[in-house]
Amino acid sequence: MVIVMAPEATQQDVDAVVDLVVTAGGDAFVSRGVSRTIIGLIGDIAHFGALNLGTMPGVADVMRVSTPYKLVSRDHHPDRSVVRVGGVPIGPGTATLVAGPCAVETPDQTLAAARMAQAAGATLLRGGAYKPRTSPYAFQGLGEAGLRILADVRAETGLPVVTEVVDAHDVELVASYADMLQVGTRNAQNFALLQAVGAAGRPVMLKRGMNATIEEWLMAAEYIAQRGNLDIVLCERGIRTFETATRNTLDISAVPVVQRLSHLPVIVDPSHSGGRRDLVLPLTRAAIAVGADGVIIDVHPRPEQALCDGPQALVDDDLAELAAIMTDLPPMVGRVPA
Ligand code: E4P
Ligand code: PEP
Repeated sequence: MVIVMAPEATQQDVDAVVDLVVTAGGDAFVSRGVSRTIIGLIGDIAHFGALNLGTMPGVADVMRVSTPYKLVSRDHHPDRSVVRVGGVPIGPGTATLVAGPCAVETPDQTLAAARMAQAAGATLLRGGAYKPRTSPYAFQGLGEAGLRILADVRAETGLPVVTEVVDAHDVELVASYADMLQVGTRNAQNFALLQAVGAAGRPVMLKRGMNATIEEWLMAAEYIAQRGNLDIVLCERGIRTFETATRNTLDISAVPVVQRLSHLPVIVDPSHSGGRRDLVLPLTRAAIAVGADGVIIDVHPRPEQALCDGPQALVDDDLAELAAIMTDLPPMVGRVPA
């Protein structure tokens, strides 16, 4: 933490800041410039926060120079991490395709979507059994019956399963079927849920809250890490902006920004960000080109009948192009398909 003193600050003001910090158990180093004095603090930043240094006479600004998140930061772990989901790597070096239906609807639909995912080169199956819906009248998912379908399709196809959990009370149940737990955008700051998935013994995919800053997103990840689980994959899925042409605005720059701040893998969801089938492949190209560690994509055998998010699901005709993107682009950015 750095304290910037106002130009008119007196020696007495500087001494008062130093005394308070030292009394609180920290160290303070005073650096005098031509017009300003700066005081660098060493010690427990959380503790200094409680001292209200910003209100002391002569203090112009209080700046935090280290990150508020620790376990997920690259300061803690300089090398970027690889997270394995049922043996499938997500992280630097690879570009992983996760694909499947938005929602598990029937055994046939889920198996057909899983076959579509495999045809495009996916190595992980996505599918929601618990759906966080805007409307209480919309399809909410099949619950445990949907989890059983996912487990059957995993047995049939060999694809490990990524599925969302929306309630802390369901974490144990969902973890008993899933290879990876997903926390969606609407629950991205549900701290009880984050703590519960952190203790569930499964890798976690944490989507970015649609209104979350990057720092808030990483603090949410810190809740999971703090429970002893560092197998976390971050997913940029678009944020709310003034733009209405797309469902959400894909914050493509978040990928390299987060990869610099955190060692955790970062993937992109081109389906929920664009919200439109015609945007999914262009956004997938953008994601791989910018250095994402993978993408998660909705596919559906009959999107016109889908119970959730049909307009953004890829169809059979899109799969060859998706496969080509996932084969051709990763080597151009130093990666191989996972
Ligand atoms: C899908 O995966 C989400 O549940 C979905 O995007 C929710 O959106 P909606 O309920 O507004 O349709
Ligand atoms: C999903 O992937 O099924 C989902 C609900 O996505 P998001 O949380 O990003 O809206």
